[in-house]
Amino acid sequence: MTALSLTINGRAHGPIEVRDDLSMNDFLREVLGMTGTKFGCGAAQCLSCVVIIDEPDGTSYTNPTCVVPAVNFNGRRIRTVEGHAAGGTLTPLQTAFIEHFSFQCGYCTAGFLNEGQVLLERLAANPIPRAALEQTILEALDGHLCRCTGYVRYHQAVRDVILADTARYLQSETGKAGETAPPLKGGRQ
Ligand code: FES
Ligand code: FES
Repeated sequence: MTALSLTINGRAHGPIEVRDDLSMNDFLREVLGMTGTKFGCGAAQCLSCVVIIDEPDGTSYTNPTCVVPAVNFNGRRIRTVEGHAAGGTLTPLQTAFIEHFSFQCGYCTAGFLNEGQVLLERLAANPIPRAALEQTILEALDGHLCRCTGYVRYHQAVRDVILADTARYLQSETGKAGETAPPLKGGRQ
């Protein structure tokens, strides 16, 4: 048994005594009752169960919970699907998922949402050229399995959020984030 303490969606939990072989997925769902994190394959293959891990340096990444013991998260700061909407207001990515009908059964959605959110935050810190966007989204969402809607609508939703705020997520044509190219003088606009 280990006394587990961690921060989930900004709220401190623990110390809670847990078995050393208890998975993080079971800890979230069965001990804390946070069932937004799903259990799919149970073998680190579908990524429906990922949560966001926030590092002290401000970077974040996703990690499966199905095959990882809860005690491995001791002292960590994580975010789950329950932490995205603030005060009942959906994030732009959640809204885009709905508008694009990105999900049907929803079993994979928490994983895609966490992955997409990490991508948005990464691009906000390090904008990329527009030409690299499609491949960047493909690579970010790679490995997340969906058996209902076929991936395209998730991709479109993430792209829409980024293109709705290009100054934040994409490099300008002059190479600096947030700048727009000056109008051409005496030529075609
Ligand atoms: S349930 Fe964890 S990767 Fe599939
Ligand atoms: S919406 Fe059903 S598995 Fe993705």
